[in-house]
Amino acid sequence: MDWTLLIIKPDAVAAGRIGEILAMVTQAGLRPMSMEMRYLAEAEVRAFYRVHQGKPFYEPLMTFMTSGPVVLCALTGDDAVTALRALVGVTDPPHAAPGTVRARFGTTTQKNAVHASDSPENGVAEVSFFFPAACLLPGRLPA
Ligand code: CMP
Repeated sequence: MDWTLLIIKPDAVAAGRIGEILAMVTQAGLRPMSMEMRYLAEAEVRAFYRVHQGKPFYEPLMTFMTSGPVVLCALTGDDAVTALRALVGVTDPPHAAPGTVRARFGTTTQKNAVHASDSPENGVAEVSFFFPAACLLPGRLPA
């Protein structure tokens, strides 16, 4: 069982796509264990995306990710990281496979509708970043 973090980004929330995206996720067999909709603080966006610090898209990404509410969703399932990444498609929406979340709802490399964890290790780290393990019972995170 993997853990993976899905973020429905401000563009997709503003476009009214929360329901369609969550339906795609659950129909793919992924199980939401905890979910929250809210604005992100700039400090947490900076910390969450710290691996991208210094890249040309980093500062614009801070502005975008704090521009409106997001949906944070902790997911579990067999091979959840791989399953969610297949469902989401590649970063750049015009290159995403037809039928994927980003092909359907993304518009630009930045406004690409969703974030999905890229490895099982990062899945645990990213879920832990937003959700205390105690909120995830009975599917408790690995220690
Ligand atoms: P995400 O999967 O959340 O990881 C980092 C985010 O930075 C990415 O989705 C995009 O929203 C954004 N991003 C990545 N590469 C670029 C780029 N070349 N130009 C603009 N935004 C980018």
